[in-house]
Amino acid sequence: MEKLIINGGRRLCGEVRLQGAKNSVLPILAATVAVNGISVIHNCPYLSDVDAAVQILRHIGCRVDIEGETIVVDSTSVSVWEIPETLMREMRSSIIFLGALLSRFGRGVVAAPGGCEIGLRPIDYHLDAFRKMGVVIGENGGIIDCTCPNGISGKRLSLNFPSVGATENIILASIGAEGETVISNAAREPEIKDLADFLNRCGADIRGAGGSTVTIRGASSLHSAEHSIIPDRIIASTYMASAACTGGKITVLGAEKKHLSSVIPVFEEAGCRFRYDENRIEITAPERLRRIRYVKTTPYPGFPTDSQSLITVMASIGSGTSIISESIFENRFRFVPELIRMGADIRVENGCLAIAEGVEKLHGANVAATDLRGGTALVVAGLCADGETQIEKTAYIYRGFYDIEKYFSILGADIRKVNG
Ligand code: EPZ
Repeated sequence: MEKLIINGGRRLCGEVRLQGAKNSVLPILAATVAVNGISVIHNCPYLSDVDAAVQILRHIGCRVDIEGETIVVDSTSVSVWEIPETLMREMRSSIIFLGALLSRFGRGVVAAPGGCEIGLRPIDYHLDAFRKMGVVIGENGGIIDCTCPNGISGKRLSLNFPSVGATENIILASIGAEGETVISNAAREPEIKDLADFLNRCGADIRGAGGSTVTIRGASSLHSAEHSIIPDRIIASTYMASAACTGGKITVLGAEKKHLSSVIPVFEEAGCRFRYDENRIEITAPERLRRIRYVKTTPYPGFPTDSQSLITVMASIGSGTSIISESIFENRFRFVPELIRMGADIRVENGCLAIAEGVEKLHGANVAATDLRGGTALVVAGLCADGETQIEKTAYIYRGFYDIEKYFSILGADIRKVNG
């Protein structure tokens, strides 16, 4: 089994270039199914989740070529509207392909994605919206079978919660609908706007993406386009946390400051200082991190749930008591017991509130990643801990952060991947 081995305690310094956003490339690869032609997507990270999306594209009849960080998708001969359970289970966000299949074929058969390590991950908002748009959905034995006997009709829809995936799936279904769709209480994450920017380049008419109300006018057919994925704001905060925890100074190249508007103030409260240039952010850590009085994860533009585990590690070595509230997923503190093995003094109440009493130093330990963001946070903990940390189940980490050991080595870390 692959492991990461880290000898911690070294200050991380230097410059690192940000990879493209995982949570943008996945819906945009799905969107290439809804348009006809050869789409060229630049700045794609090499991730196992991206591999899973490429397998799905190939299964339904796309020709996919990968040239470095560019993925070329020819959807001219797409002919299959069914995604088998084996491929769906590879990556639970594959549900995003359903909207694209409905747009392209008026038909789609997928396996229910099921839950994952961080929560139940229901898709009721997705399916309720599709039903309102005229999609007839059969659910049997975990298979979701969708038909559109009278086509897909644009509708005025309001989401109970600004769900990222539901907003994206509705946009993907709406571009092939008859008439106009208006989504109220839409998710506002930057990845939603990136998806809309790509589709508008393909001839779609999507307005308001990135805001709470998104309007989509259906189109009879859309052509392909060329697009470059936005930088990954969660990986940016990961590099920032690695500087913060090791007393280092790092410049993140390609970072968009506006995507981190709720994250930077939390790092500043912990004592970090920032300088900004065009698409680069420099963070300098204090000698010792201060406590974080209270942070609560909320939908964008609030503090992102995907960066919560990083702040929890920072709080574990901050001077004083920090409180972190997780409001998006029910099981996002799963990594905390592993952090406690490294000497953290944290208690979690009701699975959603972490109270951290900062300790001077963490110490190395043998730990296991519990999910993508929790596992990445354990890497950051290992980078600042005294001694050696071994991290198992690294497959979780590579779902979202490729070559993590290479990039942290560039910044001065003593980190290596070993097999066995
Ligand atoms: C996306 O997941 C991201 N994944 C997640 O990143 C991210 O944490 C999340 O948005 C929130 O920002 C991708 O983009 C591939 P949601 P998604 O629908 O779309 C509930 C990572 O680590 N809900 O906004 O699944 C749900 O249970 C991943 O990169 C329903 O109840 O998130 C959750 O409590 C993890 N019914 C809340 O909404 C639904 O039909 C937010 O979920 C859909 C969601």
